[in-house]
Amino acid sequence: MARILITSAIPYINGIKHLGNLVGSQLPADLFARYFRARGHEVLFLCATDEHGTPAELAAAKAGKPVEVYCAEMWAVQKRLSDGFRLSFDHFGRSSSPQNHRLTQHFAGRLAANGLIAEVTERQFFSKADNRFLPDRYIEGTCPNCGYERARGDQCENCTKQLDPTDLINPRSAISGSTDLELRETKHLYLRQSALRDRLEAWIDSKTDWPVLTTSIAKKWLNDGEGLKDRGITRDLHWGVPVRRGDEPWPGMEGKVFYVWFDAPIEYIACAKEWADARGLPDAAWERWWREDKGAADVRYIQFMGKDNVPFHTISFPATIMGSGEPWKLVDYIKSFNYLNYDGGQFSTSQGRGVFMDQALSILPADYWRWWLLSHAPENSDSEFTWENFQASVNKDLADVLGNFVSRVTKFCRAKFGETVPEGGEADAHAAALVAELETRVRAYEGHMEAMEVRKAAAELRAIWVAGNEYLQSAAPWAVHKEDPARAAAMVRLGLNLVRLYAVLSEPFIPDAAAAMLAAMGTSDRAWPGPIGEALAVLPPGHAFTTPDVLFKKIADEEREDWARRFAGRRD
Ligand code: 2FM
Ligand code: ZN
Repeated sequence: MARILITSAIPYINGIKHLGNLVGSQLPADLFARYFRARGHEVLFLCATDEHGTPAELAAAKAGKPVEVYCAEMWAVQKRLSDGFRLSFDHFGRSSSPQNHRLTQHFAGRLAANGLIAEVTERQFFSKADNRFLPDRYIEGTCPNCGYERARGDQCENCTKQLDPTDLINPRSAISGSTDLELRETKHLYLRQSALRDRLEAWIDSKTDWPVLTTSIAKKWLNDGEGLKDRGITRDLHWGVPVRRGDEPWPGMEGKVFYVWFDAPIEYIACAKEWADARGLPDAAWERWWREDKGAADVRYIQFMGKDNVPFHTISFPATIMGSGEPWKLVDYIKSFNYLNYDGGQFSTSQGRGVFMDQALSILPADYWRWWLLSHAPENSDSEFTWENFQASVNKDLADVLGNFVSRVTKFCRAKFGETVPEGGEADAHAAALVAELETRVRAYEGHMEAMEVRKAAAELRAIWVAGNEYLQSAAPWAVHKEDPARAAAMVRLGLNLVRLYAVLSEPFIPDAAAAMLAAMGTSDRAWPGPIGEALAVLPPGHAFTTPDVLFKKIADEEREDWARRFAGRRD
């Protein structure tokens, strides 16, 4: 049994996330948290809301609420939706927590003590119309890299390039639209990442098992232009973690806060403390996950994120950890994702395009979305959501294959033998062939899950469901029953045990259906299968079950057309 720490990129607090956000980090993180738990490992699975910075301030202003109030409300909304999608976080924290404030200030103090912080006086855009500095997203303009006209001061959403506000062509205030901007002097702290370049490079080079997507982005950043750039880690904003040097004030930095991308990844650590504090556990309880000197040396730490987040997790956050000179845990494996597109275009929060988490749950249960999203995860390239594909996948995989299997076995048994596992008969050649096939397929499924290959794992799971249907088709207990009821009983017994096995194997993907299948089989035995022959004998003759309601309802053409219309336009 291993200890596995899993974090998902923490979603910005501003607004409800769309399905593209979900499949890029939280959902696959949940898939593996569930899988590793099912395999008996000790898992700590953390996520939180990313509450600081300009996105939060701008959204609160738009909603006409104080930013603290807005964040508290949106945290509750995001929590409700992540529960709705069955994301099994051990703790869903907040980057604005006191724990994160203290830890962020602690890291800044350590970095300064180690000579890794530079104080830089620089010129930043000041808007006379708004009477304030305009950092990051407070400024918009044309991307110098790709020409996208709504690029933000920190990053271009279109081409993912990291930007400085002064890089933008035709800059304007995102608050008032004013172009009456002037450059004024202001002092900021810079993290001297360049001083850590060689250590970072050696560390990244040692990660030979990382996905190509992750390493290629990391390397690009490491070697961009003249080399790794130092990064401003403070901002002229009110909302955020006040700049302090550990417990001490930082002369000259009064009234400024840390940059959101400095404190957000530190929340991965602070979230573990929030988790422990919420349970009344001592610090040792969370430190054994995070401090190599306190037991975390044998923890395996896996992060999940969209590709736009990779630079911060391969360079900036590791630089913070290395530069602290303290034995905090560095990530072992970064699973990153490409983008999910929506019906011929991009999902977009700013433009309200696509299906958002609340809308998705309002039309169908979580498992339908989980299955489609995971089985089409944008792993090796961008992928696309279309309503036709969603309908086909739900109707075929979930309703026709898995749902139909469960329904046929249970209904046939109820009709011929009653609602108990029938006795008598012996496994025949069909059964032996099925067991042999499943032996291979289940081990392949485990292999894909261990390698964190989401689509391959989904395809194998589907093949495992198909094998059950094909078995029923070829064994044909309904025909055999007329001549040889005992042989039919053995087939049905195998089928009912398959339902339990499918529940166990499918739980990471479709937890509600898995729970319904186990409940119907009258068992809470979730033991992961060893030899398949044994796993298919768990429910003994005489064991009572119930025939479940329809597990998955098919999506009708009219529904599909209606949803496609409803979600075509802007979200209001
Ligand atoms: O892209 C995003 O949604 C960011 N809020 C992710 C932050 S991940 C982290 F480092 F905490
Ligand atoms: Zn661009």
